[in-house]
Amino acid sequence: MSRLVVVSNRVAVPGENRAGGLAVGLLAALRERGGLWFGWSGKIARNGGTLHEQTDGDIRFVTMDLSRSDHDDYYNGFANRTLWPLLHFRLDLVDYDRGKREGYRRVNALFAEKLAPLLRDSDTVWIHDYHLIPLAAMLRERGIGCRIGFFLHVPMPSADLVVAMPEHARLFSSLYAYDLVGFQTRRDCDRFASYVRLFGGGRIVGDDLLEAPDGHRVRTGAFPISIDTQLIASQAKAATGKAAVRALRKSLEPRQLAIGVDRLDYSKGIPERFLGFERYLQRYPEQKGNLTYLQIAPISRGEVAEYQTLRNQLEQMAGHINGNHAAPDWTPLRYVNRNFAHATLTGFYRMARIGLVTPLRDGMNLVAKEFVAAQDPDDPGVLVLSILAGAADEMKEALIVNPHDLDGVADAIATASTMPRDERMERWRTMMEHLQKNDIGAWRQRYLAALESD
Ligand code: G6P
Repeated sequence: MSRLVVVSNRVAVPGENRAGGLAVGLLAALRERGGLWFGWSGKIARNGGTLHEQTDGDIRFVTMDLSRSDHDDYYNGFANRTLWPLLHFRLDLVDYDRGKREGYRRVNALFAEKLAPLLRDSDTVWIHDYHLIPLAAMLRERGIGCRIGFFLHVPMPSADLVVAMPEHARLFSSLYAYDLVGFQTRRDCDRFASYVRLFGGGRIVGDDLLEAPDGHRVRTGAFPISIDTQLIASQAKAATGKAAVRALRKSLEPRQLAIGVDRLDYSKGIPERFLGFERYLQRYPEQKGNLTYLQIAPISRGEVAEYQTLRNQLEQMAGHINGNHAAPDWTPLRYVNRNFAHATLTGFYRMARIGLVTPLRDGMNLVAKEFVAAQDPDDPGVLVLSILAGAADEMKEALIVNPHDLDGVADAIATASTMPRDERMERWRTMMEHLQKNDIGAWRQRYLAALESD
């Protein structure tokens, strides 16, 4: 088996407590076959490009510092103010700037320059997400001939949106340098194919097979990412004894809990969700006081203006909703910006009657899957899930809502809150079976098998 090299902007270096589901899945793959994980160190240094190295068993972690200006142009700039909104269908928020675009290319070139000498011909390289789209092309320019795959964790938008970005072809045609380009859902994959055909100068030559203008062929595929289902289920069960989980339960009694957990990001539809909850309070007065909604939203990308604006907006909205609806002994909406240990969150999920996952656009959304995996099989909660999240393709027994339809969200909350246990169990069982078969291990095996087959 060839050595696996994973490349991503963020690296789950040993000892850091950021280990989400993706890190767990990729670490397992690296452990199985030995490998290298390469990416940004998370540090900003006077001189970018300095490498740090750590090892853990057969895994080498090599990370690179970025200079302040590289970080501003590449991460805060082109990745998070141009590509992120574009890929989430938000042309209104796209901020395009040639200087930032060049910074993004410069940092990708720096990744290529530092990574290329570490690679062997027999390696399998797996590059992740929108930060690093041109990396394979830049590695190829440096003579790297090994297999290189790409996985886009976020949505692929419609071709007409993509072409609104200046010089879109220069960026998106660099995907032709990969052997396999993976997407979260079939629709993402189809939208990429249609972009290639309409504006990318290429052709569709078969199922999941595209031909670039130079005749070179690129494979594509849908590989819906998942979670470590077994681990989450056992973590959630164990977490019920944790002090934070017990304290939450005690503070709620006797009310039900509805929970939302999202990075503070405009793609997550948190303002719309607050309004949907308010609509529920208005339209179901007989249920008033039955349910407390806890929204956990750790600050994310706080240096980017749109994220600061959102933060201010949510603070105002939370105050407004509570001001209008709270009682002396009840605060309907609890809004918390701090982060919690992952295991604690699974304990919160298990306690909740309702999981609110209503993004305006999401590549997959792993909170939806984790919420399901964390439930008590004998008394499971109900997932309220946006049709605009990739997870809705699989979690069909959730209460599927359109996050823009506030009445629909309000109705779903009311339905979930009063849903009989039999129905909750039936819906949960089907989703859980799916997650047991399609966990994070199955995801990476499917992807790597596709990348390594010819
Ligand atoms: C999304 C992206 C990831 C990113 C994560 C956290 O899930 O797809 O690539 O790492 O958000 O965002 P951050 O900007 O903090 O890395």
